[in-house]
Amino acid sequence: MALRERDPDVYRILQRERERQREGVELIPSENYVSEAVLDAMGTIFTNKYSEGYPGRRYYGGNEHVDEIERLAQERAKALFRVPHANVQPYSGSPANLAVYLAACQPGDPIMGQNLPDGGHLTHGWKVSATGTYYRSIPYHVKSDGYIDFDEVWRLAREHRPRLIWCGATAYVREFPFEKFAEVADEVGEQKPSARQLVTERPADGEVVVQRVAQVVHDALPGHGSANARNRSRSTLA
Ligand SMILES: Cc1ncc(COP(=O)(O)O)c(C=O)c1O
Repeated sequence: MALRERDPDVYRILQRERERQREGVELIPSENYVSEAVLDAMGTIFTNKYSEGYPGRRYYGGNEHVDEIERLAQERAKALFRVPHANVQPYSGSPANLAVYLAACQPGDPIMGQNLPDGGHLTHGWKVSATGTYYRSIPYHVKSDGYIDFDEVWRLAREHRPRLIWCGATAYVREFPFEKFAEVADEVGEQKPSARQLVTERPADGEVVVQRVAQVVHDALPGHGSANARNRSRSTLA
């Protein structure tokens, strides 16, 4: 039975939200206005399926079509971002960031990100987020002209030797200085080059950096990457 007949209350609310979205716009990075085709693809028979694991390595049966669609999504993501690996499972930015933390850091490791009131995101180590609880967060700031304070970034990075530096923010009106951050990460990385991690989001012009993120996350997957990453992934994913 269609939703309209089965649950008119929910149906009415959905209709009102459709109208609201047609008439207004919130320019928030996490939001999107998708096509009807994407809406169709988001509400399908796959809703019924449980698919823990990765294609070809699931914990339960009946995943042959899930595997097919996940592999297709991986191939498309790799082609789109021109990267060697893609993990398409996180359903939004925050769990994607957590995947990066799990791949790159141990609890208590120092990490650097843009301070939240300076435009950064909760998941970049802000105190009310788990990322500010489980990792030692050293925030960097923007100057009064709106640019990231790179003197501070260098000073903090040399002092704390972070395992991870986030480059990317929710509200930053300048171009993201990926290469400048890469220089910092290259200098302060503990065991060059494997331990240096510089990660970012919103990858429009950050292809090199996205390559690194893809590699970091890939290395942490079961059966891939360095022995160190494999050991860590065994304890977190097995
Ligand atoms: C820079 C940045 N990172 C991460 C996130 C979290 O993404 P999500 O809300 O999709 O989990 C946001 C959300 O706006 C963001 O702006």
